[in-house]
Amino acid sequence: MTRKEDISKAASQVLQRSAVADASDATLPSAQGDDGSADVSLRPETLDDYVGQVQVRRNLDISIRAAKARGETLDHLLLIGPPGLGKTSLAYIVARSMGGRLHPTSGPVIEKAGDLAAILTSLERGDVLFIDEIHRLGKAIEEILYPAMEDFRIDLVIGEGPSARSISLSLARFTLVGATTRAGMLSAPLRSRFGNTFQLEFYSDEELAEIVNRSARRLGVVIDEGAALRIAQRSRGTPRVANRLLRRLRDYAEVKASGRITGQVADDGLELLGVDRAGFDTMDRRFLSVLLEKFEGGPVGIETLAAALGEDAASLEEVYEPYLIRCGFLQKTARGRVATARAYEHLGLRPGREQPTLFD
Ligand SMILES: Nc1ncnc2c1ncn2[C@@H]1O[C@H](COP(=O)(O)OP(=O)(O)O)[C@@H](O)[C@H]1O
Ligand SMILES: [Mg+2]
Repeated sequence: MTRKEDISKAASQVLQRSAVADASDATLPSAQGDDGSADVSLRPETLDDYVGQVQVRRNLDISIRAAKARGETLDHLLLIGPPGLGKTSLAYIVARSMGGRLHPTSGPVIEKAGDLAAILTSLERGDVLFIDEIHRLGKAIEEILYPAMEDFRIDLVIGEGPSARSISLSLARFTLVGATTRAGMLSAPLRSRFGNTFQLEFYSDEELAEIVNRSARRLGVVIDEGAALRIAQRSRGTPRVANRLLRRLRDYAEVKASGRITGQVADDGLELLGVDRAGFDTMDRRFLSVLLEKFEGGPVGIETLAAALGEDAASLEEVYEPYLIRCGFLQKTARGRVATARAYEHLGLRPGREQPTLFD
């Protein structure tokens, strides 16, 4: 074996190992953190560092300035959007800009009313309570939040039986930042108590390339302009995916190309990671091919599709569908999911049943 072959074999081993270690989710936007790697955090720390989402940023900037000028706390804020688009990052930025501490928790973690009461009473003026996956809060717990959000007080029942009494505790003025991937699952009373609601959108290739370039600088990796754009184009419109691909390609480049991510290195590495031209990973392609081949392109109900894929319907809806829909590969109709002509094209199939014509 030549030295070159040696290196390339080692490179593919490194890449495959790291892909496996990530449970082959290099393109999965749902996992927490930007990568799970502990070395350098790629989270933007200020609104200026936060790329894209221009509308959201502008509005938030004004609200923050106004609140600060009046010496008030910021209105409660609801952030809606698919995983990996920057909801948690915004919560941290809000806390930092307002000079408060951030208390992160999430809907499924708060099991008892007492858990939430303990958090709420520990908050100081200007603190930010961040509840991720807020649509998964239990009903009884949600009801504690209503007076907390509106009047900054909670009503607790102390003791049991005839001696039980209800007391009202006042809370420091805090800001609740709620994040959800499923706005539709939020109850109307909860939703209406947020002063501001922002919907995060998928990022453009240019915005993602900017994120990749910034992250590369932070990681100390040299990356060519063309390579940043290639990574961007294959990141499902999602910064978390872009950063994760960048980290994987850094490994690849270190072994294979003395650390520099060129266009060629990006192409080879992405191919090895199983990311295709559209940025689809194995699961996206399985989703489409099952829809096309088993269900003749639909319409098919999400539950049926989920059963065929061995996935749960909620994660298909939250993680996979939004991007397939935004790329125009999938449509949601009243009768179920339908594949578009582009989906057939992408998988190299023809719409409808293959029927030989007279001229074939
Ligand atoms: N607007 C942005 N600009 C720069 N980096 C971003 C942006 N949004 C997200 N990121 C990166 O993507 C990662 C995931 O974002 P995160 O806020 O955790 O998403 P979410 O909470 O919506 O799932 C962050 O750690 C950060 O590295
Ligand atoms: Mg998050």
